[in-house]
Amino acid sequence: MTQIMITVGIMSSLSGILALILTLANQYIANYGECNILINNDKEFTVEGGSTLLNTLNEQELFLPSACGGKGTCGLCKCGITEGGGPVLPTETSFLNEDDLKNNLRLSCQVKVKSDLKLTIPEDLLNARKYEAVVDSIKELTNTIRFLRIQISDGQQIDFTPGQYVQLLAPPYPGNPEEVFRAYSIASPSSNHDHVELIIGYVEEGLVTTYVHQFLQEGDNVSFNGPFGDFYLQKESDADIVLIAVGTGLAPIRSILYQLKEENINRKTTFFFGAKTEKDLILADEMKEFEEILPNFSYKPVLSRVTEEDPWDGDRGRVTDSIEKYIDNADNKEAYLCGSPVMIESAVKKLKEKGFTDENVFYDEFG
Ligand SMILES: Cc1cc2nc3c(=O)[nH]c(=O)nc-3n(C[C@H](O)[C@H](O)[C@H](O)COP(=O)(O)OP(=O)(O)OC[C@H]3O[C@@H](n4cnc5c(N)ncnc54)[C@H](O)[C@@H]3O)c2cc1C
Ligand code: FES
Repeated sequence: MTQIMITVGIMSSLSGILALILTLANQYIANYGECNILINNDKEFTVEGGSTLLNTLNEQELFLPSACGGKGTCGLCKCGITEGGGPVLPTETSFLNEDDLKNNLRLSCQVKVKSDLKLTIPEDLLNARKYEAVVDSIKELTNTIRFLRIQISDGQQIDFTPGQYVQLLAPPYPGNPEEVFRAYSIASPSSNHDHVELIIGYVEEGLVTTYVHQFLQEGDNVSFNGPFGDFYLQKESDADIVLIAVGTGLAPIRSILYQLKEENINRKTTFFFGAKTEKDLILADEMKEFEEILPNFSYKPVLSRVTEEDPWDGDRGRVTDSIEKYIDNADNKEAYLCGSPVMIESAVKKLKEKGFTDENVFYDEFG
């Protein structure tokens, strides 16, 4: 018995060592030489193999969405690989459904460039650019939420659709040795091409939000890339618009409200905004101004942590309570939601009880 256990122990140690050697060899010794990359049967370039496809594309100034910074946890960096991608890796499978697999979609941060590749990438993603910029103002909206106005340098201009996001780069800082990208929705009007405004909440021990809240100062240079995302107003529709957000989820909604104003869109619009207390109702004055400017717009804040003694005469509870209270049915309505995955899950469930379907509910999860 003891002999069997010793043999099993030796065998597993040997296979562990072998796996380690293979990993190290793959990382440090493997030389894949020059690889040719062809995108959409059109754009072609040659690169040195060995990096992930995501990083290789970045080096060519081609930016795919990558909210987790290449860790394989956001599932946003998908692109089609029709030749040369090798087998789908275990780290990709949880993000790839049947349709994705049929369409040869892969997570570009997990695939290593080891041979010539043929890729399919949606044309709008090929328009994403890298921008150098300067933070020209920072406002503290609450103790944990900052509003940044970021002026783009060198006369560059950004074109985006309200609702889209950019990826802000945090450079190395004390306590974090690596560059990291994270997604932040653009809060400013799309008519502003020379700057973007972002609303960024602090996440304890979060890599990028620690940089933004503890290190970033007015006048600092920053880089971001984008725009990305398919969360935006369905413009060909005349349906009533139901906007639902909590916390920093207000950011893309603000950009959409500017769009309603600038494009004279008069669809009936209601914005349910959830916060804990009155001081967490960020940009409440602006929201009330939108009520003055947009004839068909109403702002309905709802607070979850007010006591009976608080002088708050608005709605109390969560945004799901507001859906229950104000929305009778889904007739000729579209809902747009933004915020934490937990809020979105419970709000979508509530909307579906009212008759909404996947066709008239659109959302951006900040997770
Ligand atoms: C499309 C999109 C748009 C987004 N827009 C915005 C925006 O406009 N404003 C904004 O503030 N954020 C936004 N986010 C979230 C943002 O991208 C980051 O995930 C967030 O700022 C945390 O980044 P971090 O590097 O500080 O934390 P990380 O280092 O990534 O995370 C540290 C830890 O905190 C956890 N964590 C991450 N996010 C949260 C959270 N929100 N609450 C609690 N725990 C968390 C992680 O699981 C991890 O354990 C958006 C996300 C997406 C996908
Ligand atoms: S970048 Fe997030 S999964 Fe690939």
